[in-house]
Amino acid sequence: MRPHHGMLAALLVVSTIVTVGSSAAQRPAMDRRIDSLLARMTLEEKLGQLNLPSVDNGPSPAQLELVRKGLVGGFLNLTGAAATRETQRVAVTESRLHIPLLLGHDVIHGYRTIFPIPLAEAASWDPEAVEAAAHVAAREAAAAGVNWTFAPMVDIARDPRWGRIAEGSGEDPYLGSQMAVARVRGFQGADLRAPEAVMATAKHFAAYGGAEGGRDYNTVDVSERTLREIYLPPFRAAVDAGAGSIMTSFNEIAGIPSHANRWLVTTVLRDEWKFRGFVVSDWTGIGELEAHGVAGSRADAGKLGLEAGVDMDMVSGIYLEDVPVLVRAGRIPVATVDAAVRRILAAKSRLGLFDDPYHGSSVERERSVLLAPEHRQLARRVAQEAIVLLKNDGQRLPLGPTVRTLAVIGPLADDKVAALGSWPGRGDPQDAVTVLEGIKARIAPDTKLLYAKGCGITDTSTGGIAEAVALARLANVALLVLGEAGDMSGEAASRSTLGLPGVQQQLLEAVQATGTPVVLVLMNGRPLAVQWAADHVAAIVEAWFLGVETGHALADVLFGDVSPSGKLPVTFPRVVGQVPIYYNHKNTGRPPSDQKYTSKYIDLPSSPLFPFGLGLSYTTFTYRDVRLSAPSITPGDTLKVAVTVSNSGEREGTEVVQLYVRDEVASVTRPVRALAAFRRVSLRPGEASTVDFLLTPKQLGFYNRDMNFVVEPGKFRVFVGGSSVDGLEGEFEVRAGGRAGRR
Ligand code: BGC
Repeated sequence: MRPHHGMLAALLVVSTIVTVGSSAAQRPAMDRRIDSLLARMTLEEKLGQLNLPSVDNGPSPAQLELVRKGLVGGFLNLTGAAATRETQRVAVTESRLHIPLLLGHDVIHGYRTIFPIPLAEAASWDPEAVEAAAHVAAREAAAAGVNWTFAPMVDIARDPRWGRIAEGSGEDPYLGSQMAVARVRGFQGADLRAPEAVMATAKHFAAYGGAEGGRDYNTVDVSERTLREIYLPPFRAAVDAGAGSIMTSFNEIAGIPSHANRWLVTTVLRDEWKFRGFVVSDWTGIGELEAHGVAGSRADAGKLGLEAGVDMDMVSGIYLEDVPVLVRAGRIPVATVDAAVRRILAAKSRLGLFDDPYHGSSVERERSVLLAPEHRQLARRVAQEAIVLLKNDGQRLPLGPTVRTLAVIGPLADDKVAALGSWPGRGDPQDAVTVLEGIKARIAPDTKLLYAKGCGITDTSTGGIAEAVALARLANVALLVLGEAGDMSGEAASRSTLGLPGVQQQLLEAVQATGTPVVLVLMNGRPLAVQWAADHVAAIVEAWFLGVETGHALADVLFGDVSPSGKLPVTFPRVVGQVPIYYNHKNTGRPPSDQKYTSKYIDLPSSPLFPFGLGLSYTTFTYRDVRLSAPSITPGDTLKVAVTVSNSGEREGTEVVQLYVRDEVASVTRPVRALAAFRRVSLRPGEASTVDFLLTPKQLGFYNRDMNFVVEPGKFRVFVGGSSVDGLEGEFEVRAGGRAGRR
């Protein structure tokens, strides 16, 4: 175990200690309270509970009046202990039924202490650290009166053009599920009543990441098999981990917008998965059913949403304003409304809001908790783990004492805003330590540090390049910090190209041409297609957006205080035309080869630029002795796979050992590899460790031709290694007989 887990454990313990007296005993009381409230509520008050307006500055006097009338179920974007407490006070003391409010906010990768963006956190392959980060985010948000977060975003994304790839955990359903569970646990803790807990929302249900062309909000057309095997697993994992709410997605799937998809929201989510929380629409998602062309009026849209099973209407105001007439006319049964209201009230009860509407928030607590030193410390550690070393020819990194003069160059080197990434909550750029600042703090006193911006992130002016080149010439190493602005990924930030924006490529080529050794640090919210850099630059570090501790964490890694251990959670393409490209693809009938009539591009190698799971270290790891617990199993069995990993280099390091599986022959086509398990192992030089994995039916099964989840008899292959393209192999067979394999 790594020593720094002490702090992490301490942070997590808090949520476990306060677990006393929850659920079972209280459930009947909760039901009685809800029954009694429902019996007293007018239709308007019921629909008020389903109404979720946004607060920009305020709430406004008109919004407060709605609260007094019982016409608001919650607000989003209201934060700060003073404002939230005052608004809750109005709800519980000045409204007829004294029902507290849900106060939701997008706490995506931190509230005030901003952590790496979720895609970067996924690159840590460290669910324990990600859970701790989510717990810190919850702790801060809850102190500021937020009781509900619109996270985790668990959308699988196979298209880096889609800007929201930054908000999720990448392309793999297994890794995505582990991260989903970690975040739900971190946000909610063991008991939602605890003052450090906020209710989680798994979003966006579903397949939002499958947008055609990677264009945000665009159409999705996906088979039920791919939906169930690729896009849905992280949602299922979040539900099983107890996520309190689910948010529907803006997109349609095969002609049915999610906000009107009863099969998705009711049949799959509630009937099949037994989800007992509530479903919230996305921002104006109910109203957008008109633009989708499935509703002819606001009222139609409201009816479709409610009947699909979407309980809460974010921002559209349709449930409140347009649905009453329909209910009175008998076009929507009161029972449908009641069921939705019940779920909202149950969530409020689960959060303990009927007993403490303020959920333990206070101005004092907010002051002491926000940006607490231990939060920053954790942010630094998570950031260190999120950094992925993509290339390190000639061991250019870490930077050693021979570097007498270091030139730091590039538009992102000293950018505090970008450091915080695409969705920094209530983060303040002033809290961020930039790369330049981090290096300044770490560098030996007699090392000379030079800095030039070189160009803007998206500017077309090349005026600054000459100065950067001149500085590079004076240095032993030029550290270039290039990439995207924070707002070039995230919502409504799809790109049609994946290269370095503006004139940064020119800057890179000009500095490289000086002959001074270059280290390229990339900051971005998505995979970038940087083929030229991969061909020419000796060392490349993927730094994503690392949050408040960006500069410290990068300096820790660049100077070798910490060996990099991150692994790519997503494939990096060579060029945008290769997209979508992902590791768990199908083989096709004509897998790529030297033959002409095979599945490939004539102008590109078939491999990606950097594969899923890749990440180098300052040391090396050697794998040996893959051992399977049996040569054959029956479909219901679990197989143990063991491997010995040793640190064969000269530094301490952490390896993410990855296990992939392939079903060689099945009744439907299976991916060439699918991630089935992984483990982080820290090893000193010369140290070896045996890593055991369990392969369960869940990992070996799939949806057959009848859409039943089965483990089929036949040959399987396993791969154990440090990325999706290498590893030792083993084989086993599943024999017919025994128990059936089930999820
Ligand atoms: C986004 C959601 C977000 C919501 C509230 C929407 O535009 O799609 O992810 O939770 O806004 O801010």
